[in-house]
Amino acid sequence: MRLHCILSVLALVSSRAVFVGAAVPPIRQDQSTQHPLSAPIQHRPLVIWHGLGDTALSEGIAGFIEDIKAQYPGIFVYSVQIPKGGSLDAERKAGFFGKMEEQVQDGCEQLGGIPELAGGFDAMGFSQGGLYLRSYAQFCNDPPVRNLITFGTPHYGISALLPCPTPPTLQCRLAARAAQSGIYTQWAQNHLVQAQYFRDVERLAEYGEVNTFLTRLNNETLPTPKSERSDAQSSALVSQTKGKGTGRLEGLENFVAMMFDADKTVSPAQSAHFWTYTPGNKTLLLPLASQPLYTQDWIGLRDLDERGRLHLGHCVGEHMDLDSGGCAQGVVDKWVGGRV
Ligand SMILES: *[C@@H]1O[C@H](CO)[C@@H](O)[C@H](O)[C@H]1NC(C)=O
Ligand SMILES: *[C@@H]1O[C@H](CO)[C@@H](O)[C@H](O)[C@H]1NC(C)=O
Repeated sequence: MRLHCILSVLALVSSRAVFVGAAVPPIRQDQSTQHPLSAPIQHRPLVIWHGLGDTALSEGIAGFIEDIKAQYPGIFVYSVQIPKGGSLDAERKAGFFGKMEEQVQDGCEQLGGIPELAGGFDAMGFSQGGLYLRSYAQFCNDPPVRNLITFGTPHYGISALLPCPTPPTLQCRLAARAAQSGIYTQWAQNHLVQAQYFRDVERLAEYGEVNTFLTRLNNETLPTPKSERSDAQSSALVSQTKGKGTGRLEGLENFVAMMFDADKTVSPAQSAHFWTYTPGNKTLLLPLASQPLYTQDWIGLRDLDERGRLHLGHCVGEHMDLDSGGCAQGVVDKWVGGRV
């Protein structure tokens, strides 16, 4: 076990040197300098949602934001903090424990209250953070997401828990132990974050019965109808994600989903591109184009693709190695900092 939740943050820290390094000119010539009388370029704001084990303004994220501000002077960047105003410990804990719909709702309220974001923004989610941001885009989306960018996000779930760092943190150990006592229990689905996107293709009936977060996010048609779900539970869910979202991705300008080719943390790594294991077979992968989610267009992914707005990219490294191959830099150059 090499790179894990906490170390994924360190990958961000160590990426800084290259991120603003000599190979890529870090600060673009502001074109307004050529026209002294024109107003400076206004860059579209950026919202970041961090990954498991990280915090909104950790050293790694803060450094990442600094680099983006150096490249796009004046850009407004906001990093979502769950819970808002919480201690660092509470923030890290919220990555492991909590109800994802409620955490998304917390994010909706934060983003809805920030004047600088009112005209819309680009959104960048790291790993698990990408699930929250996609949920925001599909269900809240007020203000709207323009470019949605995800790095190593398990969009079609995980078939194994993410490994704890070495040495394991207490929260990671506690969450793993709790998961062992049953991932498809109401308790786990309401309290353990990873359980809410744990999709075991050998237990799809159980998953379909108790899971609310990922099934709703992917508008998944399940082997077992959700008839057993109480009306109270369903309406509670709907009320948790109030907003202008349609449930679909159609409002996005672009959806940029990056997969780490050497990812040994997320299983399967291809979940970052909406691949899953075949029902009943944990070795056989189903590519995106063979997924009913795509062919029947459950969430508007195929529609985005047909309009040339779905971009499935690759990073060469291990999970959250944003540095190798200039992965983050390439994405930031192309999809961040557009003009307002
Ligand atoms: C979810 O998928 C069903 C078909 O499987 C479709 O009728 C429905 O409109 C979809 N919901 C959304 C929000 O797209
Ligand atoms: C899963 O698929 C592989 C490749 O087609 C096959 O060899 C294997 O027997 C399958 N396993 C099960 C449990 O069906």
